[in-house]
Amino acid sequence: MAEREPLRCLVLGGSGYVGSAVCRALHAEGARVAFTFRSRENEARVLERELPGSRAIALDFASHEAVGAVVDSLARDWGGLDALVQCAGTAGNPALYRNDRTPKPDKFLDIDAPGWHEMMDVTVGSTFAACQAAVRAMTGGGQIVVVGSMDGVKSVPAPVHYAASKGALRAMVTALAHELGKRRILVNMVAPGLLDGGMAKLLSDDLLADYVKHCSLKRTGTAAEMAELVAWLVMENTYVTGQSILLDGGL
Ligand SMILES: NC(=O)c1ccc[n+]([C@@H]2O[C@H](COP(=O)([O-])OP(=O)(O)OC[C@H]3O[C@@H](n4cnc5c(N)ncnc54)[C@H](OP(=O)(O)O)[C@@H]3O)[C@@H](O)[C@H]2O)c1
Repeated sequence: MAEREPLRCLVLGGSGYVGSAVCRALHAEGARVAFTFRSRENEARVLERELPGSRAIALDFASHEAVGAVVDSLARDWGGLDALVQCAGTAGNPALYRNDRTPKPDKFLDIDAPGWHEMMDVTVGSTFAACQAAVRAMTGGGQIVVVGSMDGVKSVPAPVHYAASKGALRAMVTALAHELGKRRILVNMVAPGLLDGGMAKLLSDDLLADYVKHCSLKRTGTAAEMAELVAWLVMENTYVTGQSILLDGGL
């Protein structure tokens, strides 16, 4: 049987906790992987060396033009793109999560206008720009997987701008899936609950304990579990599209 060409996959936020696990999983499945980093260049270079043939690219979502340019340039080098996985994101001001503050942070009133705009720009605007450029490059069909959060799906104690940005991503995925089916591009979201690393490190011990108490599986998830699901969507999925798949251990 003829071997299939390695899938050409771009992972946004590959320097992160979830993104690096996704890069490893896709690479292990034989994909050709490029990934972006913003501030953690050292970690990105280490990952690049760990995964032979991979490519680390500096990218700050502050400019949506830069996001589109990175996707365009990679697709030109590779002669196209088969998958975009969006793992980059921000939690916003870390002080919003710190329950040791006096007075306690207010998840609504403490969000200022720059914080709101940054959240929407980084999470929603950049994903839109990346998807637009990726779709132009996916001439033979493709997969888009966006990492969201349970916060955009369920009512949980999250800062309002974070939840709103993830809710917007969820709606974007639904609309994109509808729009892109005719191009044979499948679009899905994986929405994690709390994981045992990455952004969850911002949360207070109280909140983490509360999560574990109410979670059916009585534990946080892992980046490897996220990556396994994302890799399945990229490598194997042929008919699931427009879905937001919760990976929350049964909250
Ligand atoms: N960890 C959890 O428990 C959890 C739960 C629910 C949802 N999520 C979602 O999972 C995704 C990944 O989170 P994570 O836990 O892996 O967080 P993380 O380790 O902090 O990684 C975040 C990634 O986003 C990149 N990034 C942040 N701001 C950026 C910007 N302005 N421009 C370009 N890149 C930027 C970071 O790059 P640098 O590090 O190089 O700056 C990093 O690669 C996020 O969308 C998050 O909302 C995580």
